[in-house]
Amino acid sequence: MSVQPSSATRRHPPSLAGTFVPANTLGGQVWWFQPVAVVVALTAFGIYAFWAALQGRGYIAPYLSPFYSPQVPWGGLFAPFWVLWVPLGFRASCYYYRKAYYRSFFWDPPACVRLEPSNRKYSGEQRFPFILNNFHRFFLYLSIIVILFLWWDTIRAFDFSGHFGIGLGTVLMLINVVLLSFYTFSCHSFRHLVGGSVACFSCAAAGNARHGLWQRISSINGRHPLFAWLSLTSLLVVDVYLRLLLAGVFTDPRWVA
Ligand code: FES
Repeated sequence: MSVQPSSATRRHPPSLAGTFVPANTLGGQVWWFQPVAVVVALTAFGIYAFWAALQGRGYIAPYLSPFYSPQVPWGGLFAPFWVLWVPLGFRASCYYYRKAYYRSFFWDPPACVRLEPSNRKYSGEQRFPFILNNFHRFFLYLSIIVILFLWWDTIRAFDFSGHFGIGLGTVLMLINVVLLSFYTFSCHSFRHLVGGSVACFSCAAAGNARHGLWQRISSINGRHPLFAWLSLTSLLVVDVYLRLLLAGVFTDPRWVA
């Protein structure tokens, strides 16, 4: 005797493990859209960043590309890579990006209520290369140093041959360093550094100040994924803008005192 599926089963076919999922959508969105979009965006950014770092030029007065900061005097064509491994390691080990690329690149699982491929064995982050993710807090410390250099570059972007000024490049660099700062200081490891290990703020040294800072960081920590994407976009925009200036496609609009 054949058993007819119920109307509910027809609308929501069972997944491999019998977990019921909406046919092809999650909350009205096609479930695979987000992982595919992440793959496309991160791959495109990675290729562009690699290409930009190999161009050998990232400066047009008074602007310095964030891919070339801080400048190192050795390495020739590969000089930017002496620094780029820091933000690369910081982003690759970021808790948000880990979720994004595990889902998108490794389909592990690709989305909520979707199963990962059945032949996977979970080994946590105990083997190379993923064991490096455990060094995230050290990448944070190094990234804070890089951020300080980027702020210095931005301050110098107001200096037009000894005169204070603002160009479109100045504005773009300022937006970029602000977004990068929000991304860096909304990091989960930074939040933990400030208040995560304190059981009693009123008993701790500088407890009130730490509690206030911890609360502020907690409020931006909730938007960490947003800052991750916005700062990635602003990095791209600044470098593309500088390359267009270097290529002479147009001149930088400026307001100099
Ligand atoms: S930078 Fe994302 S969690 Fe630290």
